[in-house]
Amino acid sequence: MKIGLCFNLKKEMESDAGDKAEPGGSKSLSNDIHQAVIPRDFYAECDSMETISAVRDALAANNDVVLMEADENCYGKFRAEKPDIVFNIAEGIYGTAREAHIPCMLEFLRIPYTGSDPLTLAICLDKQRTKEVLHYYDIPMPKSEIINSRKALKSLRKNTRGFFNLRNEHLKYPLMVKPVSEGSSKGIVNDAVVRNEKELGIQISRVSELYAQPALVEEYLPGREFTVAMLGNGKDARALPIVEIIFDTLPEGVNHIYSYEAKWIWDVPEKPLDIFKCPAAIPAKLRKQIESICVSAYNALNCKDWSRIDVRCDSEGNPNILEINPLPGILPNPEDNSCFPKAARTAGLSYGQLINNVLDAACARYGMAGI
Ligand SMILES: Nc1ncnc2c1ncn2[C@@H]1O[C@H](COP(=O)(O)OP(=O)(O)OP(=O)(O)O)[C@@H](O)[C@H]1O
Ligand SMILES: [Mg+2]
Repeated sequence: MKIGLCFNLKKEMESDAGDKAEPGGSKSLSNDIHQAVIPRDFYAECDSMETISAVRDALAANNDVVLMEADENCYGKFRAEKPDIVFNIAEGIYGTAREAHIPCMLEFLRIPYTGSDPLTLAICLDKQRTKEVLHYYDIPMPKSEIINSRKALKSLRKNTRGFFNLRNEHLKYPLMVKPVSEGSSKGIVNDAVVRNEKELGIQISRVSELYAQPALVEEYLPGREFTVAMLGNGKDARALPIVEIIFDTLPEGVNHIYSYEAKWIWDVPEKPLDIFKCPAAIPAKLRKQIESICVSAYNALNCKDWSRIDVRCDSEGNPNILEINPLPGILPNPEDNSCFPKAARTAGLSYGQLINNVLDAACARYGMAGI
């Protein structure tokens, strides 16, 4: 088979804000496609050449592989190369539908591709829209509200006594404040956990100013956190061994969240944080509960071939869905601490087998098995 491997290469960012810059940069607006200044973590979701090469090598064992960068020329490249299928890991660059751009082009050209379709990718990048779908299926999630700006917070407070969301649920501190449409913990810094209205206002301003998008304000779930790698489709969709995020390994005194700092600053190959335990040491009942809500969420969102789902327990120990990543991170080096490859290794799948499992799942969907 001829496979097009479509990706966005992570570029190095030059910071104009020096050491004082927080993740997100000094003046940054990642979702405003007309904005000239881009944040320091702009490319955080994109892939390094190391990852792209590892995926290419895995696919090249049995196929011809053509590397295709998801840039402004890629539509022409798809037409010229005419791959039998595209292995899609392109995160997209601009806008809230950026993850859907490549699958849209491929559907237009009737070229099969791995992973979820444009609708699923666009919904899952918007954490609020994802919640609306999950709510319909009664899948548990933290209570939340979208707040556009600090000013909007004030009017919300004036109109209600206390802080209620549109479904009239009382949101209790501590709260989490995050950009509504980002991944890789972009904009989720240690201070994103807020304990009073003053801190809430500061964090809403930070998100709306740096990321030019509304803030998702969510009740903070204090329980254990897990991430679940899903493989397959429909009735065959299955969870790989569950990964637990062990917050005790974070520096002392910081909030127990898997923040931007925890992912990209405190955890580096030279000094890895031993932050994941896989398989998670949990009772069978909790494991089944987690797997059950993950399979329900995966199918509710119509995810295809693979996804990684983040789950956190509430104060009573009940698992809730935090978010769904239909284009999961897949850093190949075990020391880079990437959850999906880690879960696959625990299930006995090498990196190459994982990638080829995703390809096989897509080929089976398209009736292309055995080409
Ligand atoms: N409501 C919440 N309660 C407690 N912790 C939370 C909540 N929301 C987010 N977090 C913490 O912040 C981390 C990052 O949040 P989230 O998964 O929403 O961000 P992301 O940028 O989409 O992540 P990813 O790298 O998985 O794409 C979570 O792993 C969790 O530790
Ligand atoms: Mg996450």
